[in-house]
Amino acid sequence: MQASFMKSLIALILLMFLTHTTVIQAEINNQLENPQSATPESVAAGEKIYKRYCQLCHGEDGTGSPPREAGFPASSNLVDSEWDHGSTDGDIYNVIQNGVEPEMAMEPWFDRLSETDIWNVVNYLRAIAKK
Ligand code: HEC
Repeated sequence: MQASFMKSLIALILLMFLTHTTVIQAEINNQLENPQSATPESVAAGEKIYKRYCQLCHGEDGTGSPPREAGFPASSNLVDSEWDHGSTDGDIYNVIQNGVEPEMAMEPWFDRLSETDIWNVVNYLRAIAKK
């Protein structure tokens, strides 16, 4: 009785672990579609977030900056057509959400920005890149 209960419990925990891992993998590998259309409101919300959290490293105009500390990669230009970590909205979303390994000089923002926040920033970057 006790042993079979333990077995079921272990099976359940394993199952939960497996499904959880699969979900995270899917989020990272999928070509995510941007669900947030680039309305003026979305771009304005993205601008606020950019100015607060991103401008320090990527510059007011998004053109990036030299490394602030020795050994750190330079902060990327976010308004040219070169993307080191993928150019789709989904790729950019993933970089902002999960950071860039291994240095993590570009840190992950999932703990501070909601999904909507991140899509708004992506829309803002697209908007300033066009100018
Ligand atoms: C502490 C400095 C710093 C802050 C703050 C920062 N970044 Fe970065 N970011 C970097 C660096 C450095 C890289 C280059 C990482 C690499 O290539 O290893 C980078 C890379 C990126 C890239 C990938 C560009 C490419 O070419 O693929 C995107 C997109 C990006 N940052 C967006 C943002 C956004 C949006 C924010 C604000 C939420 C932000 N960053 C905040 C330093 C920063």
